[in-house]
Amino acid sequence: MQEGRPAIVCTSISKNYEGHAALADVSFTAYAGHVTGLLGPNGAGKTTLIRILTTILQPSAGTFQVAGFEPDQANEIKSLIGVMPESAGYPKRTRAIDLLTYHGRLYGAGREEATFNAVEMLAAVGLSDRRADRIGTFSRGMRQRLGLARALMNNPRIVFLDEPTLGLDPAGQHSILELIDELAGSRDVAVLLSSHLLAEIQGICDRAVILDHGRVVFDAEPTQGLSEIFHKVTT
Ligand SMILES: Nc1ncnc2c1ncn2[C@@H]1O[C@H](COP(=O)(O)OP(=O)(O)OP(=O)(O)O)[C@@H](O)[C@H]1O
Ligand SMILES: [Mg+2]
Repeated sequence: MQEGRPAIVCTSISKNYEGHAALADVSFTAYAGHVTGLLGPNGAGKTTLIRILTTILQPSAGTFQVAGFEPDQANEIKSLIGVMPESAGYPKRTRAIDLLTYHGRLYGAGREEATFNAVEMLAAVGLSDRRADRIGTFSRGMRQRLGLARALMNNPRIVFLDEPTLGLDPAGQHSILELIDELAGSRDVAVLLSSHLLAEIQGICDRAVILDHGRVVFDAEPTQGLSEIFHKVTT
């Protein structure tokens, strides 16, 4: 079921940190309209790979294309992607609605349009009733939801989510996954979703890539023996 446009093409990417290989020869393709799961235990290289593909870090070797752009076209890439990083900092005294409106304006929306989009996004992640509250008063799960809303403010074609459900309660986890599913399905967005939870990936992803010690050890539809390999990697 991998028809559709390639959104992320990752070709033999390696990353060394002071001689230690965090990623080794990583290749895979992710498609528009699909959720691709990036699965692996702590330290497998998920965040490193996402940081490279979102142009925050440079690979030691290999290359990639995101939305058809090369690594040296970082501005083009940044304008077309939404990112929910592993650890995002938020200004504590800023109100949720103002953070998102500001973010929308950074991407060129006028005040009215940015405010409208911010209200919509806050509703989509279940934060309507807290939209005028300062972020410093938010729980961790609320900050996670806000992070997802922020990642979507520029109407991105490709969304990178680094463990977006970490710390959420089951209801929050479910609603975030539903939103991600809808993004890929109805808006034709490519989603790269990292997780260390097998059930999460099996429930939502069209394709899964498992990283183990920086290497791809699985790249297929989740039905094709994903759980066996995942258990091998994590035990
Ligand atoms: N800035 C850094 N300097 C040195 N080593 C690093 C750095 N960032 C990551 N690493 C190492 O690279 C490897 C991959 O780390 P990474 O954070 O990408 O893993 P991960 O799969 O995201 O793990 P987690 O599930 O814990 O978030 C680890 O061995 C880690 O120690
Ligand atoms: Mg990580």
